[in-house]
Amino acid sequence: MAVLPIYKLPDAVLRQEARKITEINGKLQRLIDDMAETMYAAPGLGLAANQVGELKRLIVFDVSHKEGGPRKLQVMLNPCIAAGEGEVIHEEGCLSVADFSAEVRRHAKVLIKGLDREGKPMEIAGEGLLAIVLQHEIDHLNGILFIDHLSRLKRGLFLRRLKKQAAAR
Ligand code: NI
Repeated sequence: MAVLPIYKLPDAVLRQEARKITEINGKLQRLIDDMAETMYAAPGLGLAANQVGELKRLIVFDVSHKEGGPRKLQVMLNPCIAAGEGEVIHEEGCLSVADFSAEVRRHAKVLIKGLDREGKPMEIAGEGLLAIVLQHEIDHLNGILFIDHLSRLKRGLFLRRLKKQAAAR
């Protein structure tokens, strides 16, 4: 297993739509293991394949270690939001968006359908932090970042800061 480089804004791969996974093979299993290692090393609660430069609909996540529990890696291929309800506002950050966090409004509860790493259908009903992480990671697969959910004013502030940082480099 290897820790992969994490792509950061403004890399174009973060703005592209990932493609549906149709073939489950050894290469994919290696990518899953590497993404898990990368997520734990960061550390982060979740990681989407776009973030390591792979346009595949694949996410890994684990919210249990955040809550002090043992690691419980979860993997989902081709995840999609089958249902969402309620509303929650929570401060989010992203491994691909350096030094910035902001409050984002999302569904409080979601039902996610997809496949496990062997290609068997699975679903997850999540609430709380799990629901937030799932929505954040699925957004990545559609080229969407948490900053896209902010008000124009807040996003403008962030983008100006990003430009300044880029100019200073
Ligand atoms: Ni993210």
